[in-house]
Amino acid sequence: MSIEDAIPSSSGRVIVVGNEKGGSGKSTVAMHVAISLMKSNQRVATIDLDSRQRTLTNYIENRFDRAQHITRNLEIPHHLCFVENTNYPTAEDEAADGKALTDHVVALARNYSFIVIDTPGRNSYLGRLAHSIADILITPLNDSFVDLDVLGTVDRLTMGVTGTSHYAQMVQDARLLRYRRDDVSTDWFVLRNRLSMRFTQHTLCGRGAARAVTEAQFSLHCRPKRARDLS
Ligand SMILES: Nc1ncnc2c1ncn2[C@@H]1O[C@H](COP(=O)(O)OP(=O)(O)OP(=O)(O)O)[C@@H](O)[C@H]1O
Ligand SMILES: [Mg+2]
Repeated sequence: MSIEDAIPSSSGRVIVVGNEKGGSGKSTVAMHVAISLMKSNQRVATIDLDSRQRTLTNYIENRFDRAQHITRNLEIPHHLCFVENTNYPTAEDEAADGKALTDHVVALARNYSFIVIDTPGRNSYLGRLAHSIADILITPLNDSFVDLDVLGTVDRLTMGVTGTSHYAQMVQDARLLRYRRDDVSTDWFVLRNRLSMRFTQHTLCGRGAARAVTEAQFSLHCRPKRARDLS
């Protein structure tokens, strides 16, 4: 099933790519989702909330330069890099930035079918806000206990999932807020971005991590996905 099958293409849908685990593949997934939607003739806007790393912004700027250089009409989304105040923001700063981001997304939703938002790999106030305005949340992670830690706790002996961790708790709060405020149920896809290599699947740890990731996907009420199912 592709993303387009899951949601109607006529209204502006907000796709947030998030995970507090750094380096799990958020920006890479955001790029592929945005370009793949454009290749399916969807109008796409992108927002980079990681104004420190600017991975998505750099990618789009490079793609734009490349398109000019080779004089080809490559798909380039309408893009904004949203700068978060990281210098001890006050509650007023956070509220003002939050309103500016929400207003921007609402305006984009009138003209674009999809708004793809890339978030930083840390707990940030704009990242939390983005999670609470998502129609679709994609959380990439690897088949690794190191990645699974942010989603759930795992029993060391049985390798079964025993509880919810900080990122999953934040997602649950954001989904509840979205539901109560807007009557919208956010679709949450936990995406196995990089699968274990064949040889690690044969170790107890490799097998256990893959199984625990799958178990966490079900116990947290999110939909399992593998990277190749998204395109
Ligand atoms: N499916 C994949 N297969 C192989 N390499 C990948 C895959 N997805 C991402 N990578 C690589 O992993 C690294 C981290 O990816 P990326 O920057 O997208 O992660 P991120 O979650 O956005 O990181 P950060 O938390 O720092 O923003 C990059 O070198 C990227 O090229
Ligand atoms: Mg990134």
